[in-house]
Amino acid sequence: MNNRILITGALGQLGEFFINSLTKAGNYILATDIKKPNNISCDFEFYDILDLEKGNELIKKYKINQVYNFAAILSAKGENNPMSTWYINNSGFMNIIKLCIDNNIKKVFWPSTIAVFGKNSNLDFVNNEEPMFPETMYGVSKLSCEKAMFYFNSKKIIDIRSIRFPGIVSSTKPGGGTTDYIVDMLFSAKNNENYNCFLNSETFLPMMHIDDAIEASIMLMNADKKNISINYPYNISSFETSPSKWNNIINSIGYDLNVKYKPDYRQKIADSWPKKIDDSILRNDIKWEPKFNDIDTAKHIIDSI
Ligand SMILES: NC(=O)c1ccc[n+]([C@@H]2O[C@H](COP(=O)([O-])OP(=O)(O)OC[C@H]3O[C@@H](n4cnc5c(N)ncnc54)[C@H](O)[C@@H]3O)[C@@H](O)[C@H]2O)c1
Repeated sequence: MNNRILITGALGQLGEFFINSLTKAGNYILATDIKKPNNISCDFEFYDILDLEKGNELIKKYKINQVYNFAAILSAKGENNPMSTWYINNSGFMNIIKLCIDNNIKKVFWPSTIAVFGKNSNLDFVNNEEPMFPETMYGVSKLSCEKAMFYFNSKKIIDIRSIRFPGIVSSTKPGGGTTDYIVDMLFSAKNNENYNCFLNSETFLPMMHIDDAIEASIMLMNADKKNISINYPYNISSFETSPSKWNNIINSIGYDLNVKYKPDYRQKIADSWPKKIDDSILRNDIKWEPKFNDIDTAKHIIDSI
């Protein structure tokens, strides 16, 4: 079925790619954000997810029947203002769920994150149900929304589908996360610039190509409800890399990137995140697997910058 989809926070790192893929699949897209778009291929409206009245108006005006709720404050940026991070991420989530329930919208996609894990999780290989004591307000806010998601799904009030994304590699600049170096290094290599990395050279974190993230998200949204075996978000995994490994990969495909390491406050965040993810439940439920390994990802994204 073709849907009429509202995307919140659509002008961030991920939005544009989801707009393109969902449009290609035959859906109508209304992109919304609090910033001004430069160049956008679908209808756009200014919309702050804290504004319930405007949300209600847009859903009715555009006859929306599905929401992709991307608006959020991410990990690194979130530490600068934990209060507003909690407020935007949690009240925003609740507002979207309320609007969907009030307007009979049955299905929502809302991405969670590997930031929900913490040092009490088995970071060497994190399964779907590890103990979770996140150390950033971003992780805390996403984890509390995961609990609300579990509540709404278990009571069959609404069907919320979610994946805990790792660092996403795309040709757009990220918006203030702890994995931002992965994209920043590609831009530096492409522009023949040196790069100062804010993490230690050997910090391994899970990453994935944007196209793999989108494919899994859309497959999850289209999956038959009877195949969804959990009421909370799925882990997802593709490849793991460190800044020095990524630097070597970039140089192996024909660039000459020089990286200096100046770890800052983000190192502590990265140290509390998974190194490797067990996503067997997702792969079993929706029969998904990634198409891009680390080298393919670097090549493909750097060519599209
Ligand atoms: N990019 C990643 O690597 C990654 C990893 C894990 C999870 N995620 C999740 O995916 C989603 C999208 O991430 P992204 O990388 O595109 O984020 P981003 O930071 O690049 O973009 C977020 C967008 O939300 C908008 N926004 C902020 N406050 C808002 C508000 N009150 N109302 C409406 N819009 C608001 C911002 O203007 C921005 O355009 C987020 O929920 C994030 O937690 C992303």
